[in-house]
Amino acid sequence: MKSANKNRSNRPNGARRGHGGGPGPKGAALKLLFRLVSYLEPYYGLLVITLSISILTVLFQLLLPWMIRLSVDHIISGNEGSGLIWAAVGLMALAVVHGGADFMRLYLTAQLGQRAVFCIRTQLFGHLSRLSFSFYDAAKTGDLVTRTTADVDALSQFFGHSAIIVLTNVLFLIGILAVLLTWNLLLGVVYLVMLPFIGFGMYVYALKVRPAMGRVRRKLSELTSYIETTLSGILVVKVLGREEFEKERFERANTAYRDASLKTIAITALWMPIADVIMGVGTAFVLLAGGYGIIHGTVSLGTLIAFTMYIGMLLRPIRQTGMMLSATMQSLAAAERVFEVFDTEPEIQDRPGATDLPAAGGRVEFQDVTFSYDGTRNVIEGLSFRVEPGEMVALVGPSGAGKSTLVHLLSRFYELQRGRILIDGTDIRDAKLKSLRNAIGIAMQNVFIFDTTIGENIAYGNPRASARDIERVARMVQLHEFISALPQGYQTPVGERGLELSGGQRQRVALARVLLRQPAILLLDEPTSSLDAATERAMEAALDAARDGRTTIVIAHRLWTVHHADRIIVVDDGKLVEQGVGNASESAHMSLMRQGGL
Ligand SMILES: Nc1ncnc2c1ncn2[C@@H]1O[C@H](COP(=O)(O)OP(=O)(O)O)[C@@H](O)[C@H]1O
Ligand SMILES: [Mg+2]
Repeated sequence: MKSANKNRSNRPNGARRGHGGGPGPKGAALKLLFRLVSYLEPYYGLLVITLSISILTVLFQLLLPWMIRLSVDHIISGNEGSGLIWAAVGLMALAVVHGGADFMRLYLTAQLGQRAVFCIRTQLFGHLSRLSFSFYDAAKTGDLVTRTTADVDALSQFFGHSAIIVLTNVLFLIGILAVLLTWNLLLGVVYLVMLPFIGFGMYVYALKVRPAMGRVRRKLSELTSYIETTLSGILVVKVLGREEFEKERFERANTAYRDASLKTIAITALWMPIADVIMGVGTAFVLLAGGYGIIHGTVSLGTLIAFTMYIGMLLRPIRQTGMMLSATMQSLAAAERVFEVFDTEPEIQDRPGATDLPAAGGRVEFQDVTFSYDGTRNVIEGLSFRVEPGEMVALVGPSGAGKSTLVHLLSRFYELQRGRILIDGTDIRDAKLKSLRNAIGIAMQNVFIFDTTIGENIAYGNPRASARDIERVARMVQLHEFISALPQGYQTPVGERGLELSGGQRQRVALARVLLRQPAILLLDEPTSSLDAATERAMEAALDAARDGRTTIVIAHRLWTVHHADRIIVVDDGKLVEQGVGNASESAHMSLMRQGGL
């Protein structure tokens, strides 16, 4: 995503990013935390309950050594055995209650995590689908996949696990301090001296581990991107015999990921031994101070035993907090990547006050349109033309001339640098995007077939279409016979896990999709480019029926379309070179030929 980000921020017409640069190691971490917690808003009730139960478990945990202290001091002072039995019963009861509360805490946090992550993932996917073409031009699919899956999963770690554990452990550390200070000032102070070391250790650890975790996530993302693109192009790899080359590239990405992970492991592995050392030193000091207190009669034996227990109980939270901190840091690294997507605004949005495009004839007008994808090279330059309602115009010109770009611009997939595009007199920028896309039907050059049945593929833009409607358009594009001959008919699965369609069949599915929507303006990008001669003739009839009563712009190189067009517009290098107009006695094609254009 690194390169994608760079591209994006460089392009003047690219998607805007809300936050610049990566956040600093700690200042931004708090901001990230607050932002993460803000996603819990629908579950604040659940959050409060979970927190309360967590506090309860901490209290129960603190109570245990307290009761031991009571019992020990009772025995020492020679009290009768009944108190001891009660203490034992109390301990058992405490253990059971504590276990129950702990179960609730773990269960509820996991619930919280799953719900929050579900919520974030839904919003993320929704946001992604609103982003504009320019975003997808720059973004890598694999990277986006990692962001919506693995990165969001890392957030579930945070919500469903690490955040609450870190919080309860910190509460526990503080709770022990409070208890000790009320028992014995000296012991409290010994403990108090230990705390900064523990805290400092955790802080340094978190500081080191977060950038390392971020690196791991980036490398994983790069690896996923690489696998995704290479597998999509695996046929080319095989045809050109580049398996070895790709294997080496894969190994490089894989190695980078492994090395980044190993580096993090080195940091995390250091934490436990360090925690052990802090604990060992702490215990020695406690023994020293406590033993001294016992000799001088200021500390009871029960207190010393209970204190040693507390110290022992500290080991788990300290170790755990280290681990959980790394998990939290990992979540924050992931959160940054997720928020980056949220902070990318769709470049193309409804203007304030945008209105629905009036349902009218479908006059299309380009006025002095200039456009560039990257902000430097103009792909379209000062281009003007007009298409009357019901007219059929053929756009011709060499490959790379900018024909497909014109189609993208009319649908407002990209924003113009200069000029205007009008539909029935309305600037498309003043129209609601939804109404604009409803008015226009496009069959794109590259047809995408979804992993579902062929019937659903045809009905993709019109999910409520009846079986009869689907069959009607399938007949129009000459697909019905082919589909009926399939064993499962319209229910036959196509796409990656189904029947492979030929290029010509894909193009006809695309045309059928568009026809089902009955748009006022029909844009066809080389609809006959991958048809054989026989199918092409069949398709001609389909096109003839399709253009009936609507404005049609066909990007074409085949003679038929050109012959039947009312007008031919020749585009070269983003500029309009010439127009040929047909009339009753000669076709547009002939007229252009006469002028020496074709
Ligand atoms: N998404 C894109 N990002 C950047 N440049 C593009 C993009 N799509 C097309 N171009 C460039 O714009 C020019 C016109 O492309 P296009 O409109 O697809 O041509 P045509 O359809 O006439 O063959 C080409 O130079 C192409 O490289
Ligand atoms: Mg094209």
